[in-house]
Amino acid sequence: MSIKLTSGKEIPIEMHKTRMVQKVSLPPIEQRLRAIGEAGYNTFQLKTKDIFLDMLTDSGVNAMSDNQYAAMMRVDDAYAGSMTFYEFADAVKDVLGYNYVMNVHQGRAAEHLISKVFAKQGDVVPTNYHFTTTKVHIELTGGATCLEIYYDDALKTESTNPFKGNMDPQKLKNTIKKWGKEKVAYVRMEATTNLLGGQPFSMANLKEIKQICKETGLILVLDGSLLCENAYLIRQREKGYENKTVAEIVKEICSIADLFYMSGRKNTCVRGGCIATNNKELFEKIQPWLPVYEGFFTYGGMSQREVAAMAVGMREMVDPDVAGCAVEQIKYFVNRLKETKVPVVTPPGGLACHLDAKKFLPHIPQAEYPAGALTAALYIASGIRSMERGTISMERDKDGKEVFADLELCRLALPRRVYSVSHMEYAVDRINWLYRHRDLIKGLKFVFEPPVLRFFIGKLEAIDNWGRDLAEAYKKEVGNH
Ligand code: F0G
Repeated sequence: MSIKLTSGKEIPIEMHKTRMVQKVSLPPIEQRLRAIGEAGYNTFQLKTKDIFLDMLTDSGVNAMSDNQYAAMMRVDDAYAGSMTFYEFADAVKDVLGYNYVMNVHQGRAAEHLISKVFAKQGDVVPTNYHFTTTKVHIELTGGATCLEIYYDDALKTESTNPFKGNMDPQKLKNTIKKWGKEKVAYVRMEATTNLLGGQPFSMANLKEIKQICKETGLILVLDGSLLCENAYLIRQREKGYENKTVAEIVKEICSIADLFYMSGRKNTCVRGGCIATNNKELFEKIQPWLPVYEGFFTYGGMSQREVAAMAVGMREMVDPDVAGCAVEQIKYFVNRLKETKVPVVTPPGGLACHLDAKKFLPHIPQAEYPAGALTAALYIASGIRSMERGTISMERDKDGKEVFADLELCRLALPRRVYSVSHMEYAVDRINWLYRHRDLIKGLKFVFEPPVLRFFIGKLEAIDNWGRDLAEAYKKEVGNH
């Protein structure tokens, strides 16, 4: 939650106490420059020994609770029929309202199975916005095409639209008409659209989309990886939901979807994932493939310890202090940057604070990857690891041509219950310094590019060795750290 100080200032406040810590260190600027060079200006390739604050992602790096650790000590290790799995299934029933559930090793494994079973060559999958792994599975596993059906203003980074994650119902209807409903494999809604900057959809929109699916006999698939943030933001922003609990809103969202999946690595703070539904027929279509790709039905590629922690995490995630901890920090972070006119995605959403690299670095053309350059520059100027979410995160088209991303974002994720206000203040300070020295930053070019999901292992080079110029300016003005 946020708390108002007597001065009137509002700050996010931690509704937990830290009882186990991990030491971090701030490497000096020369070490940072060397490390980013060795990493090919790709922050995925950095080692954590060279990182101060790791804001690459909120996936698999959240702090777990004492109750989650306790549950991990008391598990029923069995290949088949583990009671730990049934405890997890009970949590899914209680929190999400689904009768049928299977574990998978992480979110993309669910995407793999769903695409394999429901999408085929020549199909389309309309979505409010793609996620990287989702698109790859729809296209490579399913052979289908992923279509983005958002409202036009979803791509406006500075906005007051509270629900930029909404799908445009008219565009969906047109799409179904154009392709024919037999060609639409399913309709996918993502709870807080990751690549649009963690922007939520509204309940009203979800209901409208469901109505279209119902009328046309299409399956509505919900990616609930960031379900609780979306529910928390509905509570804050949608009329009629201000007096509902996050738990009630989560259940209502889930009751609308035909098929649900999630990465457990975000909301439930554990490595894993699941697919769940109340539709037996859909469940039984996927189920036979689970032991082929993931593992037996009662573990699905996860260890029982992770299943146990996920069961507890599933119940804890609807606690407003858990559901809202990243949202409140992001709001603070974004508002602090807005004060100095740093271009950030607004309104603040879930998952992360996003810098708009197109506006931050207008002198860098998209072909030279402004979001990648900003992400690398931020690391040099702060030791903070963020993530490129722009053209480097896109796949080339069939002819090998570059596909420019709609948005060029540098994403500073806020893992749950990990960082404090002083960490954010440090980040705000160094981002401001970088903004004042943005002219020193130039573009990047690939020196090694893998054929798929290139952002993970691709290597790039700084055009005209700008990293050195930036580091020199930093040393002169700020010092070695
Ligand atoms: N769907 C969404 C909306 C996601 O944000 C992610 C992962 C996935 C699916 C895939 O799940 O990683 O468990 O296989 N997002 C991470 C991120 C990787 O950093 O945003 P996964």
